[in-house]
Amino acid sequence: MATGVQPVSTKETPESLEAFSLLGETVLGLIRAQTPLPEILTVLCTQIEKRYAGLLCSILLLDIDGKTLRHGAAPSLPEEYSRAIDGAQVGPNVGSCGTAAYYNQQVVVTDIATDPLWADFRLLALSHGLRACWSTPIASLDSKILGTFAIYYREPRSPDAEHLQLIVHCTQLAGIAIEHDRAKAQLRSAETRYRNLVERVPAITYIAELGAEGRWHYVSPQIETILGYSPAEWLANPMNWLNHIHPEDREIALAAEKHFIETHELFQAEYRMFASDSSVIWFRDEGVPLVKADGHALLMQGLMYDITEHKRLEDQVRHSQKMEAVGQLAGGVAHDFNNLLMVIQGHNERLRDRLAPADPARKDLAEIENAVNRAASLTRQLLAFSRKQVLRPKVLDLNTVLTEVTKMLRRLIGDNIELIVIPSALLGGVKADPGQMEQVILNLAVNSRDAMPQGGKLILETSEVDLEAGDARSGEDTPPGRYVVLTVSDTGSGMDAATQARMFEPFFTTKPPGKGTGLGLATVYGVVKQSDGWIRVESKLGRGTTIKIHFPKVEKVPAVRTQTEELLPVKPLASAGPVPGGTESVLVVEDQEGIRNMIGESLRRNGYRVVIAEDGDQALQMASGLADPIDLLVTDLMMPNIGGRELAHQLMSLRPQMKVLFMSGYPEQTVSGNEINEETEAVLQKPFSLDKLARNVRRVLDKRES
Ligand SMILES: Nc1ncnc2c1ncn2[C@@H]1O[C@H](COP(=O)(O)OP(=O)(O)OP(=O)(O)O)[C@@H](O)[C@H]1O
Ligand SMILES: [Mg+2]
Repeated sequence: MATGVQPVSTKETPESLEAFSLLGETVLGLIRAQTPLPEILTVLCTQIEKRYAGLLCSILLLDIDGKTLRHGAAPSLPEEYSRAIDGAQVGPNVGSCGTAAYYNQQVVVTDIATDPLWADFRLLALSHGLRACWSTPIASLDSKILGTFAIYYREPRSPDAEHLQLIVHCTQLAGIAIEHDRAKAQLRSAETRYRNLVERVPAITYIAELGAEGRWHYVSPQIETILGYSPAEWLANPMNWLNHIHPEDREIALAAEKHFIETHELFQAEYRMFASDSSVIWFRDEGVPLVKADGHALLMQGLMYDITEHKRLEDQVRHSQKMEAVGQLAGGVAHDFNNLLMVIQGHNERLRDRLAPADPARKDLAEIENAVNRAASLTRQLLAFSRKQVLRPKVLDLNTVLTEVTKMLRRLIGDNIELIVIPSALLGGVKADPGQMEQVILNLAVNSRDAMPQGGKLILETSEVDLEAGDARSGEDTPPGRYVVLTVSDTGSGMDAATQARMFEPFFTTKPPGKGTGLGLATVYGVVKQSDGWIRVESKLGRGTTIKIHFPKVEKVPAVRTQTEELLPVKPLASAGPVPGGTESVLVVEDQEGIRNMIGESLRRNGYRVVIAEDGDQALQMASGLADPIDLLVTDLMMPNIGGRELAHQLMSLRPQMKVLFMSGYPEQTVSGNEINEETEAVLQKPFSLDKLARNVRRVLDKRES
């Protein structure tokens, strides 16, 4: 067959040499001028066709898949023919070009009419009057096939030496043009990918000279949305970076910069920056060395991630952990104190009872009593803060509570403060302890009063809000849902950030000694948390304070008055009427020896038959050996081994007639465990007076079976 690889003659005539070098210059000139590839290839073809009468040129480009030939340039071939060839798959018998690309060899077909390689394309070629076709692969510098360069004639013909030289030159030139074009395309797509990343990650990307005052060469457009400066504004002043860093964080940033300059290791720093609207943004900044084009000077290329939200959550977690720890401590202290106070109180009462009514020492005992009461109210606040207090939650109407408290408030806040109450018309219910809720409102109002010594406005408002999932205000401790909101705002002194950060801590106060205990807001915090609510504070120094408390909304039920008054702790010791007694049998279980003995003795003096046990195990043992009935069990709620509730449960299964009175002073482990069932349970919160003990013992014993 007339097909084959032809040896290329290296003999070049001076005339052809000059023509080739001219052609080369033209093509390279076009490449340099960034002329589009199809145009360059067309010029190449046209130049050759001009020089050789009857010669027709075609350049096909091989797709990156390495299988498909695409139209490149063929200025003189019939368009219809070019269109038909476009998309041909390379293969062992695909005309001259498909075969040349397939074998990566020159294929010379001198007569299309007879050559078997053209079997599938013969009719097409002949119908356009094409008879000879010599095709040569165009290769890249690293020998990859980029396409084919073909010469057609309209009569059977084989190439002469000049043709072969021409082919060598043209494939080289076409190769350079195609490779250059592909490199450009690759660069473009790499740049697009890089730009896409750099401009769309939620972070600021930058390239800057080393040093805190180094000039910035590039900053990505996100700087506008994150910091509020346009890239041009930012790049204009090399001092922008350092100047916008929070003064407290400059040292960190500078140290990281210094370390980077010395070691060229990863630059890493977290710092705050001021945005154009003066808001503070937290960044994590990470940078790597970047060698400048000259190969010497070093730049830094890095990313500044906005981690403000992350920091906020971190703070929140840290804060609640701290409050939890302080709460545990406060609860523990309160418990021990309560036990001590009970002992003091009990012995004080006994002393009093021994004195004649006119004894002047009674006055001293009354002072002790007063001090005990004040101390008891402190421990109660501590327990409230630690969320370990006994709660009697009810479904409340916040407006009703507010109305009640307001009556008291008018007197409390004085004349120079204007009190404005704005109750919401249709307000849902809140599940909380009514006494505690009043305490919350009072504490907040008193704080506002103290913040407005020159007078001002105190606004108490109720409302309802819907927090949806994803709401900026709803976070870990603020699940979405419907909330009843109590807002207390004042036009007082306001607080700086440092005060706000610590305001809920127990014993944190900015008031002079003797003025504030620092337990007001700690109590509020505990009560609100225990009711599954949460608090938001908005305050600026000199601009007043707004505190919003969110309680989960519950369905309202008609209010029922229950007999809680009798059980509420800390009533004046000297209560009316003689102390009631009885002759029933009482089992007293209490792990604190001092209290145990005191209660036992006191009940005995009131006429009861008393059995004492120091814990649940001992109580069960004693009860099983006791033939007589036990009319009443008086037991501490929290004891080692068997708790009060469990003990009552076990004893009652054997003695269903037995009544129970619980005592509580110990911070319980679970919030729900602290809730008292008003209908069935009686609880005395420590410290309580012996007088009160006697009244409650009588009351429980006299209670009818329901
Ligand atoms: N409405 C407010 N305006 C300005 N500062 C406030 C306001 N509420 C609280 N504070 C600040 O928070 C601190 C703590 O308040 P908190 O109620 O816990 O304690 P206190 O008022 O100092 O003492 P206590 O309430 O025990 O008498 C206050 O000392 C005060 O600095
Ligand atoms: Mg206060």
